[in-house]
Amino acid sequence: MRYDILTIFPEFFESPFSIGILKKAQEKGLIELNTYDIRDYTDNKHRTVDDTPYGGGGGMLMKVAPISAAIEDVKSKNAKSLVILTTPDGEKFTDKTARELAYYEQIIIICGRYEGVDERIREIYVDKEISIGDYVLLGGENAASVIVESVSRFIPGVLGNELSPENDSFNEGLLEYPQYTRPEEFEGKKVPDVLLSGNHKEIDEWRKKESIKRTFRKRPDMLDKAILKTEEIDLVKELKETDPASFKAYIALIHYPVYNNQLKIINTAFTNLDVHDIARSAVSYGIEKFYLVQPNLEQQKLVNRVLKHWTTGEGASFNKSRSEALHLVALRDTLQDVTQEIEEIEGEKPLTIVTDARSTDNMIGFGDLRELIFSGEQKPYLILFGTGWGLAKEIMESADYTLKPVSGYTNYNHLSVRSAAAIILDRLFSCKI
Ligand SMILES: C[S@@+](CC[C@H](N)C(=O)[O-])C[C@H]1O[C@@H](n2cnc3c(N)ncnc32)[C@H](O)[C@@H]1O
Repeated sequence: MRYDILTIFPEFFESPFSIGILKKAQEKGLIELNTYDIRDYTDNKHRTVDDTPYGGGGGMLMKVAPISAAIEDVKSKNAKSLVILTTPDGEKFTDKTARELAYYEQIIIICGRYEGVDERIREIYVDKEISIGDYVLLGGENAASVIVESVSRFIPGVLGNELSPENDSFNEGLLEYPQYTRPEEFEGKKVPDVLLSGNHKEIDEWRKKESIKRTFRKRPDMLDKAILKTEEIDLVKELKETDPASFKAYIALIHYPVYNNQLKIINTAFTNLDVHDIARSAVSYGIEKFYLVQPNLEQQKLVNRVLKHWTTGEGASFNKSRSEALHLVALRDTLQDVTQEIEEIEGEKPLTIVTDARSTDNMIGFGDLRELIFSGEQKPYLILFGTGWGLAKEIMESADYTLKPVSGYTNYNHLSVRSAAAIILDRLFSCKI
């Protein structure tokens, strides 16, 4: 592999490229590391590489001509060569990208500075745009160094033992298991017996289990891509029982006060299908309680009859899982009754989140809300779903957060509340396995 790095600070790379495994890999001829000063490709006596952007605005931009000349100079005739631009708006660099890049024979990396590079560099030369994370660096040199280090690990021979990158984190979509070296005991902490047993089959099994456990606890999002056998999936199921996620969430379906299609406040009627489906979603996603807010006495009688049938009546023995779901449902007169009850259970007022098909200012996104709920602060949350034409203004305005509407890549915007509830619960509480 040949890396050609275009930069205005070639001296940046002197230290990282002259130590440890990268140094040895160069000595063995497994990789070749070249840096080029973009200023050497300028045609003015001041060696200027930047200029002001058209259209105004702050900062300077790297000019197209010097970078273009540098690329033309270092581009060899290698069929397997690739031009990479380091940029915060590029594709996020991952272990998978590093593995893929290791197949190339030549990688040219452009390090931007200032406000970045003239757009025409991307249009004419760049094959791949890479970001090493959602933050902005002063220049692309650190990013280039990250790319070189992580890609080189996958070049055969670089790590000495070719198997070792396969045991590291991210292989098979899992984090690495815990590791120990001498002494066997340190400050009362002992190395697990299995690692001293010499039984390699048991050691492999233990490591796989610990990898899954660690990923489940620290990076459950990764389980989505992990390739697991059925017995490993069974282990995740066990972990759900022994090590459940620690959030406290309640939901409520509001029948009053909501709007009708004339935007008048009304009391909507109970819909059996909504209650069954939302209750089943609620149990699946670990919701503490599903409240129905319904002040109308006639409607309450109807709801109570249905709930009784499924919780203590014939339905309870006829369909146990349905009964389990409907046990989660509680009927209350007002939203205030619901929040008071949660406060009594949890010892603090719940933070309320309203949902709506319409957009308003200052809405919270699903990712941010999920982070808040899973932040470990253990605050109780109450998510409100409206019926009719949506929740009344007074409820919307008194909430702590308004969640962004559920949307796909169309502008059709007429989901049933049971569908919206299922989608929202999945986006907020899904375990990716
Ligand atoms: C100050 S940044 C330019 C930021 C640019 N104006 C923007 O808002 O996207 C200067 C250079 O640093 C490098 N850089 C900054 N952040 C990076 C990141 N997260 N990943 C990769 N390269 C980055 C790029 O080469 C970029 O051209």
